[in-house]
Amino acid sequence: MKILGIESSCDETSVAVVEDGKTVLSNIIVSQIEEHKLYGGVVPEIASRRHCESIVNVTDLALKEAGVTLEEIDAIGVTYAPGLIGALLVGVNFAKGLALAANKPLVPVHHIRGHIAGNYISNGVKPPFLCMVMSGGHSHIVEVKSYTEFEIVGRTRDDAVGEAYDKAARALGFPYPGGVHMDKAAKLGNPKAYHLPKPKVDGNPYDFSFSGLKTAVLNLINNANQKGVEVSKNDVAASFQQTVCDMIAYRLIKAAKELHYDKIVLAGGVSANSGIRARMEAECEKNGFSLFMPPLKYCGDNAAMIAAQGYYEFIHAKTAGMDLNATASLPITDENFNCLL
Ligand code: KG4
Ligand code: ZN
Repeated sequence: MKILGIESSCDETSVAVVEDGKTVLSNIIVSQIEEHKLYGGVVPEIASRRHCESIVNVTDLALKEAGVTLEEIDAIGVTYAPGLIGALLVGVNFAKGLALAANKPLVPVHHIRGHIAGNYISNGVKPPFLCMVMSGGHSHIVEVKSYTEFEIVGRTRDDAVGEAYDKAARALGFPYPGGVHMDKAAKLGNPKAYHLPKPKVDGNPYDFSFSGLKTAVLNLINNANQKGVEVSKNDVAASFQQTVCDMIAYRLIKAAKELHYDKIVLAGGVSANSGIRARMEAECEKNGFSLFMPPLKYCGDNAAMIAAQGYYEFIHAKTAGMDLNATASLPITDENFNCLL
């Protein structure tokens, strides 16, 4: 069964064809990052316009590279939540048009479910497992009970981990998106150079707070500037990364032990981080868990992961009609469309 996946929730226009939820026949990604970099972050209006300009060509290319025609596609999966509303609307409306014109089922896909499915196309992991989803907008510990059943056991109370990375990076003078630059700098620095706070959250031991850590980095840089002291970017990045690794590893291992999971899975843009990957490999080895991570090309936003999740939503009869709308904010556990069946 071949699913055409469409992703336009943020600053990547991507279309992919994936067979049976695991074999990627094509995965075309057009990134807008170079343009948004000029403004230090994603400008929603520009994102929507660029999606409009690219989506037809990207779809043509995805079909061509997969060697299939639209007629040979079984269903059209599209990210409908969460994300920038204008950007999501481009993908959703385009998918509706395609589905109507080609008489194909329309499958709404939650973006974070898609990030988790990035693992199905790359490392063969099967639910149930415990997943740490970390991106620019989310930091969740999720029980993935089946391909379509989820329970959030831990979440950030404030900033997402990717957001904290990007803001700390900006304060250090790195271009947007700064996570990858922090990662590179961290490899060259001393992780013990600065002591940064590891906030715990009252009420839920698996919840995170990253805004305190971000603020501590901003204060450190401002104080040094006021005193005319130079901070080592590499040391700040390394200390920040070490703190993030400590926070994630502690909660994830604790949750896996207490909730009796033997498989730990990473997903989302920040799962590309070399420090987090190495730390989780070591922790899982030490504690006897199997660790699964997507290769770097499936960590960031891409439509192959949307088509993969779309396959599982489709075989569970989660199809929508022409009244499908985009939703800017929606928990992974929820669905916000009228199921056709
Ligand atoms: O999943 P994603 O591509 O988009 C969202 O759904 O948000 O995640 C983007 C986030 C950005 O905050 C980016 O800085 C971060 O992932 N990121 C990284 C790395 N690569 C991307 N953060 C830390 N280390 C990296 N190597
Ligand atoms: Zn994403």
